[in-house]
Amino acid sequence: MKKRSEVTPFMNPPESDVINVELHPLSEDDDLGYFACMTIDRPDKLNALNADVMEALKAVCAWMEATSEVRVLVVTGAPPNPPAEGKRPKPHAFVAGADITEFSGADSGVIREKFRDNAVEALWNLSKPTLAMVDGFALGGGCEVACSCDIRIASDRSMFGTPEINLGLIPGYGATQRLERLVGYGKAHEMIMTGDMVPAEEAYRIGLVNHVVSPEALEETTFAMARQIGSKSSHALRVGKQTVRAALDEGLTTGVEIEAEAFANLFDSEDKEIGVQAFLTRETARWKHR
Ligand code: COA
Repeated sequence: MKKRSEVTPFMNPPESDVINVELHPLSEDDDLGYFACMTIDRPDKLNALNADVMEALKAVCAWMEATSEVRVLVVTGAPPNPPAEGKRPKPHAFVAGADITEFSGADSGVIREKFRDNAVEALWNLSKPTLAMVDGFALGGGCEVACSCDIRIASDRSMFGTPEINLGLIPGYGATQRLERLVGYGKAHEMIMTGDMVPAEEAYRIGLVNHVVSPEALEETTFAMARQIGSKSSHALRVGKQTVRAALDEGLTTGVEIEAEAFANLFDSEDKEIGVQAFLTRETARWKHR
């Protein structure tokens, strides 16, 4: 893994007290670029999304978009700190939701402004592949951050849920929409209406997560997939992501038309010729990412 200081200055991710970004080379012996692992780092508050985290997350998304060498983003939460003397240890968490302390006394005007153009949408709208690496609680806004990523990989001790109903609320970062698309409206209703948590294995069964692995295997599994995806043509990945998005935003007929057009357009790209020639000559494709 490259330390930030070893990376050329223009690639440096934004600095913040609540989010760390590490750059990992996609290949040890080849200059293929990087994937970034972004860690939401408030473990004493189970990585809850306060205003600082949301601002930092938006800055990372803007940096990702502007930095062509960084091809994939992994999103995760910091592990718990060792407990203070005589205190019980905090649990593992991806993100335990929006920071509830910021809700106290807030009215609709405050919340409308806070949730407008928010960081979860910035993550959702990122043109590059995103993977949620979930170890522990992914509740409320945490479940929604995970649902805003393209792929979710969870440890078997993870718990997902939308407990906002217990606060007299509903989800506000897109779970009524994106969670519903993943698990269907029956299960989404159940989660949103009961506030019950869904363990990782059940999350896998209902389509909420792509893979469940042991906590020890989580990073290796996620990083291997980040490297695999990062080794593809960034241009084709971007077009593929936009086109899958059309399946969510448009009807089937329009979506299929969008796919046909996108597929045809890729035949004018340099990477299509590189990929096809690499197959025919049995060589590794050296993408130009355009
Ligand atoms: N916002 C702010 N602080 C939070 C938080 C949140 N969403 N979730 C947890 N925390 C804080 C707790 O207040 C506690 O802080 P403290 O040690 O300073 O008192 C710390 O994180 C550890 O949480 P704690 O509740 O003591 O851990 P636990 O193991 O007993 O319970 C949960 C874990 C996840 C079940 C519990 O923290 C919880 O229900 N969190 C809220 C989940 C939620 O409703 N999310 C949706 C918000 S819209």
